[in-house]
Amino acid sequence: MNPKRRPIIAGNWKMNMTATQARELASKLIPLVASVKDRDIVLGPPFTSIASVAETIKGTNISLAAQNLHWEDKGAFTGEISAEMLLDLNCRYVIIGHSERRQSFGETDETVNKKVKQSLKKGLLPILCVGETLAEREAGKLNDIISRQVTGGLKDIQASDMQKVVIAYEPVWAIGTGKTATPQQANEVHALIRQKVKALYSAGIADGLRIQYGGSVTPANVSTLMAMPDIDGALVGGASLKPESFAALVNFK
Ligand code: 13P
Repeated sequence: MNPKRRPIIAGNWKMNMTATQARELASKLIPLVASVKDRDIVLGPPFTSIASVAETIKGTNISLAAQNLHWEDKGAFTGEISAEMLLDLNCRYVIIGHSERRQSFGETDETVNKKVKQSLKKGLLPILCVGETLAEREAGKLNDIISRQVTGGLKDIQASDMQKVVIAYEPVWAIGTGKTATPQQANEVHALIRQKVKALYSAGIADGLRIQYGGSVTPANVSTLMAMPDIDGALVGGASLKPESFAALVNFK
């Protein structure tokens, strides 16, 4: 953590939570985090639960993220969701290029980049996800993969838009496995991402960029992760599905 950057704790609910369950989770969470003022709290329900969460959290200190969007404004794209639809439900953020989407749904740096551009054009704040697989790490390709994903995801993004971008580093081998990257391992990659953004833009932009860590973050390990100088937040799957554990993450010391 660096006092210059506001921490951002986000829950990625993935394909969990019906609209009814989502409403219940959100209403239990509200009082548990109501006094938090110095960090951003974000919930990422599946599309079908966004409306019920939006209604529940109205007027609170919690904001909403979608888990995906389409890069076109509207039209014949069966099964897809537009930026305008998300904005209409009060979404503020959108998670883009999660490794599950890259691995199972054919997302590439090119489609990820189109989505980042579309979100910025429409006024949504992108959370751009990057991360290497275990095989890539073991083959010594960590730097190449991260550089490629950061450069590809941010292609043609103007410097003036960069303060709206959040990057999430999620090593694929740490997602849902209980294997967290050590705080040192995570910080090393965060520093690499910041270095890359400095080379692409400027030291000032790199300094202001918020980089979240994701992959088996729990109430037990969040504080040591957040104590690292280049870690500015967490993107949390499993531990975000219970109000008490997500609240504990938000309230990290
Ligand atoms: P887990 O916290 O369940 O490992 O998931 C991390 C993640 O993929 C968040 O986007």
